[in-house]
Amino acid sequence: MNRIALGFLGAVLALQLACSDGKTPVSPTAPGTTAPPAGIDVEPLRLAAQAAGKLVGAAVPSSSLGDGRYAGVLGRHFNYLTAEYEMKWDPIERSRGTNDFGAGDAIVSYGLANGMQVKGHALIWHQAVPGWVGALSPADLRVAFETHIRSVAEHYRGRVRAWDVVNEAVADNGSGLRDTVFRQKLGDQYIADAFRLARQADPQALLFYNDYGGEGLNQKSDRIFELVQGLRAQGVPIDGVGLQMHITATNPPSEASIAANMRRLASLGLSVNISEMDVRIRDVPGMTQARLDVQKSVYRSVVAVCVAEPRCDGVTFWGFTDAHSWIDAQFGADDPLLFDEQYAAKPAYYGVLDALWRR
Ligand code: XIL
Repeated sequence: MNRIALGFLGAVLALQLACSDGKTPVSPTAPGTTAPPAGIDVEPLRLAAQAAGKLVGAAVPSSSLGDGRYAGVLGRHFNYLTAEYEMKWDPIERSRGTNDFGAGDAIVSYGLANGMQVKGHALIWHQAVPGWVGALSPADLRVAFETHIRSVAEHYRGRVRAWDVVNEAVADNGSGLRDTVFRQKLGDQYIADAFRLARQADPQALLFYNDYGGEGLNQKSDRIFELVQGLRAQGVPIDGVGLQMHITATNPPSEASIAANMRRLASLGLSVNISEMDVRIRDVPGMTQARLDVQKSVYRSVVAVCVAEPRCDGVTFWGFTDAHSWIDAQFGADDPLLFDEQYAAKPAYYGVLDALWRR
């Protein structure tokens, strides 16, 4: 029996289970079609991930944790949690010298209370920087930069497994380093400095460089590779690289290309993870079911690469329900995630499940 048939049988079985314990699937459906099972009823992704020895994560906003349906699906399926926004510099230090950890703490506490590990995101990024930072002199920026990394990493010490220490420092086209306020005023060594400061402040956390557009082999991933190779050669404390994986189903990087990129990073002694995956389907032609099936196959093949790569820690999705995704605001209305707006499991969910079970 092929995978699609197996997946279909699984869906029917799960639906029967969902109905037999008195729960009704929540998705509204067109007359004559069968509702997909609710995300709270389908097999937990985290069990499959555990069997594969991988982490399966989601990035979330703190404002959604009080929503029972949202929190129920989150807690059932994920064993790794990331703050979508709350642990970036701007929300923490909106005015200079005053740190507000409230929203980030809420996410970390929620994760730890639900048996999840937590990934800190992100210490140094050219976006979500407080407005006051732009006006600082180089000497003042150095003080603020050091104070920020030290105080945030110390605050979360012992509670986060890993940090994205530097995010998106390579230029979009891979021509070199991105021209950020940090590079302009602190010089190229700001990247190495950030890793050293993070290690001092939290010696246990794994320290990652994180970026997008360099998932497979291309000019950008070549630059990222050179950057982290240089950091390793200088003895900078970097443990791994996050591949964001914000991709479109019409033009995904190939499995072979992602696998080769992960392998060359692993050959430097680094671990890798897929750190922000979502798959846009806006431009996929065809009827809804066919478009969702294309998305499923992209999810399956990308996650399968991580499952097959011993140095890949796991996959974090940038959200989990189409009811809440940064994609809608950034790229236009879309349905890029694993569960639909009613929290029912999409074909994409089954694609991830199949990959975790090596099907
Ligand atoms: C996005 C969040 O999803 C938004 O809520 C926020 O307003 C802006 O940032 N790459 C990253 C993430 O590393 O931090 C970004 O998250 C998405 C792109």
